[in-house]
Amino acid sequence: MENNSRRTFLGLCLGGLAVGAAASATYPLYRYLAPRQADTNAGKVVIPEKDVPLGEAKFFEFAGAAAVLVRTTKGELIALSAVCTHLGCIVQWEKDKQSFLCPCHAGYYTAEGTVISGPPPRPLPKLPVSVADGSITIG
Ligand code: FES
Repeated sequence: MENNSRRTFLGLCLGGLAVGAAASATYPLYRYLAPRQADTNAGKVVIPEKDVPLGEAKFFEFAGAAAVLVRTTKGELIALSAVCTHLGCIVQWEKDKQSFLCPCHAGYYTAEGTVISGPPPRPLPKLPVSVADGSITIG
């Protein structure tokens, strides 16, 4: 009798493991194939104002690509694509120079995204920015 309940217990454990393994294997496939849920804030990114002090930049993802929000030393908020217009590297913020450097081929941009020097053919594209109730909305 005890042997029988042990078998039942082991059977339940193995069954649970099999169900867990099957679920963990199929869930990523389901998430990949399932349509995206509607998001009321779709296409927008909200960043608390306190996260971007004067002279600082905050990088984030916007519409699947790298973007950056800068608060200039004069207090102006500027959101830009962080993807270099030359060959697509991600630019870096140089706080001491208040400009962006593309590390791939030494392209330089102003805080407003204008090309200063190097191979980038165009400015960094600007993104719409609005501020309300201590939050910065991009997009
Ligand atoms: S990819 Fe940025 S300068 Fe070449």
